[in-house]
Amino acid sequence: MRKYIFLAGRANPALAKEIATELGICEGAVALKRFPDGETAVQLLESVRQQWVFLLQPTSPPVNENLLELLTLVDACRRAGAERIIAIVPYFGYSRSDKRHGRWEPITASMVAELLQVVGVAQLITFDLHASQIEGFFHIPVDSLTAVPILYQALAKQLPADVVVVSPDTGRVMMASQYAQLLHTEVVVLHKQRISGTETEVTQVVGEVRSRPCLIVDDMISTGGTIAKSVKALLEAGAAPEIYVAATHGLFVGKARNQLGHDSIKALWITNTISPPASNWPQLQVVSVAPLIADAIEQLTK
Ligand code: R5P
Repeated sequence: MRKYIFLAGRANPALAKEIATELGICEGAVALKRFPDGETAVQLLESVRQQWVFLLQPTSPPVNENLLELLTLVDACRRAGAERIIAIVPYFGYSRSDKRHGRWEPITASMVAELLQVVGVAQLITFDLHASQIEGFFHIPVDSLTAVPILYQALAKQLPADVVVVSPDTGRVMMASQYAQLLHTEVVVLHKQRISGTETEVTQVVGEVRSRPCLIVDDMISTGGTIAKSVKALLEAGAAPEIYVAATHGLFVGKARNQLGHDSIKALWITNTISPPASNWPQLQVVSVAPLIADAIEQLTK
């Protein structure tokens, strides 16, 4: 078994603690602060020389701060002589900027991939990327894990037998098919159109939902708009007022909680790739990715 150090930024301390417990190790010591002008200040408090370093930091909101903290930690490790730096980024921020929609736009996911590699990341572990082709922005190994099986295990026993799986847009058809295969049911696809940067509408329900309970699956819930519009479209198409939601990454920004407060949403499953909301939310169930990450670390250091 290869020796390694496990470090974490400040984006998801609870997940870092769980992973360390799973592995039976202590987290490496780092000082993480902010200078009075807002600049990021990091310092390693132990040697990483000639060691493999696993560095956990989802680039969840505040995205830019968490991203910069990750980059500075990687830089510190590289300058301190780490042999190999493996970034564990369970939620990869900017993943939705994976192509240009207009001529004068950046492809920010590609730029973030470049930044990570330039500072010294030698391998990336991540979960349910918004688009699997993001892996192609990297020329280092990418271990792209999925939370679908662990979410399935959590939700399967709680779903009615006649449930249909709903993909809220064409981008999620593959994920919906994975859930449908596990649940032995059909997939319904919603045709989502973007009205503006923040607003979408569902123009068509492709498949039969009449009187059926629905499980909407997605890679992430950000403002909750996609789920809210999907619920509305499904109910208008005659679905039973019994809707379930499963998503890997729960960002819950802005008024997401209100958007997801519809009476017909009976349960909502997410993982802890991002620190889950602390507030009392009886429908919300959180499944931990810590065992999967611990297992990945063990496999890589065997
Ligand atoms: C979009 O393509 C994604 O897969 C999600 O459906 C979307 O980003 C969720 O965002 P929101 O919750 O703000 O609608």
